[in-house]
Amino acid sequence: MIVTIDGPSGAGKGTISQLLSAELNATLLDSGALYRLVALASIKHAIAIESVEALVELARQLDVTFISTPKGVEVTLAGEDVTLAIRTEQVGMQASRVAAIAEVREALLQRQRDFAATGALVADGRDMGTTVFPDADYKFFLTASAEARAERRYKQLAERGESVDMNALIADIRDRDERDQSRASSPLKPADDAVRIDSTDLGIDEVLQVILKHIN
Ligand code: DC
Repeated sequence: MIVTIDGPSGAGKGTISQLLSAELNATLLDSGALYRLVALASIKHAIAIESVEALVELARQLDVTFISTPKGVEVTLAGEDVTLAIRTEQVGMQASRVAAIAEVREALLQRQRDFAATGALVADGRDMGTTVFPDADYKFFLTASAEARAERRYKQLAERGESVDMNALIADIRDRDERDQSRASSPLKPADDAVRIDSTDLGIDEVLQVILKHIN
């Protein structure tokens, strides 16, 4: 069984996907983490965004592990724990840029599909229901207003001791939405057969219940 959860950043996909995968005893694919890993590696190796071939090579050879722990998924890049390093605003912005490159997306496609090889899968991303798993059994598209998403992100960053300006955060989110929605390759949009859920006024548990109801 494959369940896809797509939507813009900050809509709650990450938390929902984690809870849902635990509930269904399914593997979790955090596809955004793959784009963030390419972004982080490109920053580390000082590869410019115009160097498409070098970025594709990075994406192909990405030496990563995802380890499930009770606290969430731990991510390593070339043996180094980068769980927190991939979550900064800088890496998120760079991820949005590398994700706009069709060849990079192509290079990550099979790696994503391989996650479904071991049984049930919850796949979290932007194009899980449209491009990566078009035949998924259940597809959800999670949205929330830009303001609500910025507020959630603000809290997340504050918990980590990062302080950011709220208006800058809203502008950043709009910027990233615009790029994710307008790119030619696999833009962020709901699959025709996806169930749309607006989580602006819903708590995590309410969203989870709506999803479980559909699956059951
Ligand atoms: O979900 P996230 O914020 O970790 O994603 C980081 C970036 O990667 C985001 O700007 C969009 C991009 N992305 C994508 O293009 N396709 C996916 N399936 C997942 C993420």
